[in-house]
Amino acid sequence: MFTHPNAVKEIFVADPEELYAGEANGFMEGLLGKNSLLLLDGTRHRRERKLMMPSFHGERMTAYGDVMADVTSRAISRWPLNERFAIEPEMQEITLDVMMRTVFGIEEGAGFDRLRALLAGIVGHAASPLLLMLSLGMSPDRIRKICAKLDVAPFGVGRFLPPVSLFRMLQETDALLLAEIARRRSSPSKGNDVLSTLIDARDDDGHPLSDVELRDTMFTLLFTGHETPAMTLAWVVFRLLTEPAVFEAVKDEVGRVVGQGPVRAEHVGQLPYLDATIKETMRLCPTIPIVVRKLKRPMTIQGLELPAGVVASPCVYLTHRRGDIWEDPERFFPERFLTRRSTPYEFFPFGGGVRRCLGMAFANFEMKIVLAEILRQATLTIPQGKQIKVVRRGVALAPSEGLPVLLTARN
Ligand code: HEM
Repeated sequence: MFTHPNAVKEIFVADPEELYAGEANGFMEGLLGKNSLLLLDGTRHRRERKLMMPSFHGERMTAYGDVMADVTSRAISRWPLNERFAIEPEMQEITLDVMMRTVFGIEEGAGFDRLRALLAGIVGHAASPLLLMLSLGMSPDRIRKICAKLDVAPFGVGRFLPPVSLFRMLQETDALLLAEIARRRSSPSKGNDVLSTLIDARDDDGHPLSDVELRDTMFTLLFTGHETPAMTLAWVVFRLLTEPAVFEAVKDEVGRVVGQGPVRAEHVGQLPYLDATIKETMRLCPTIPIVVRKLKRPMTIQGLELPAGVVASPCVYLTHRRGDIWEDPERFFPERFLTRRSTPYEFFPFGGGVRRCLGMAFANFEMKIVLAEILRQATLTIPQGKQIKVVRRGVALAPSEGLPVLLTARN
């Protein structure tokens, strides 16, 4: 684990042929599929990232703004008044709907509902570290063999075992994704969504992505692209509800810029204090606490000689708390992001180098739209005496009990 910015820099700027992120993330293969961008290295990683980049450029985000605001509005109208509910699962509903519409380009219908339910089930399953280890510690082939055996066991009880039920959900999701890809290949939609762009995309040799590559890519985007922003959103709500001065300042800014609303894409660049509040939240409550790289040859990092095969990990959580970088590091103080620019080796909630999160611009844009809509439309509080802790959810850090809140007024 490394926390000094010089060491983090050495890792992030090193030759990607010598430090493999895909191989270090390999434990997720059973879940994400072997063609997932997160698991690729070398030439294949470069090829696929290049094909995906255009869909995640800043300008492209503006086309998604209305969908994000609309999905958030609809969610708020469903929240119960004066009754305790967990906000984090609600955030997941919002971010999953946004992903389904913007990445996949599918709207309501039976297929939408089923895919949505399956993804929620898979996320719930992957949330338990024990189940995740049980299910994913084995190679996909091994899981497949065991599941096939258990499935035909007397009374089919095997299907309720965690690895088997996860496997069945993954199988059904695969089939739905492949069917949608086939449908879209036969009748191209010319939509703005990521799937339409990727179906048309060609690499430098003129080759398109295969069906299986597209399936793994879609699944990776739907899965990683909704859970992390949802948890981060929940953490920002937690900070806003426990820091009254910050809350007032953000609310004021949103009121001035957005007025009667709804929030639109052009408002996003005019919300610097909200931006600083999100950054300060990601500094103190990073959803992904570490990033990982596997050494392909012996290397010296920050004077430390390491053999090939070792995983070197820039630790987001600890670097973000170093007293020699951040003044009064434990204090929640968004203003620090307004007055000082941090380097990508001091502040890296989205990882770094050539592997930096592909969805960073998307997530930053989405989080501002969702939060501004919530601040505009809902008055939330944390129930009296509720202590919120950090809990592990799979590989991420989330607020305990999904962060219980009360909606006391709808504006
Ligand atoms: C607040 C929200 C998010 C956080 C905190 C986050 C964090 C991360 C981190 C730490 C990594 C690993 C980077 C590294 O190894 O250096 C990553 C990779 C990735 N993220 Fe995100 N992410 C978020 C949202 C999203 C969204 C919305 C999408 C998709 C739309 C997405 C797609 C990806 C992909 C595809 C990769 C793999 C990139 C590669 O290996 O080249 N993420 N993310």
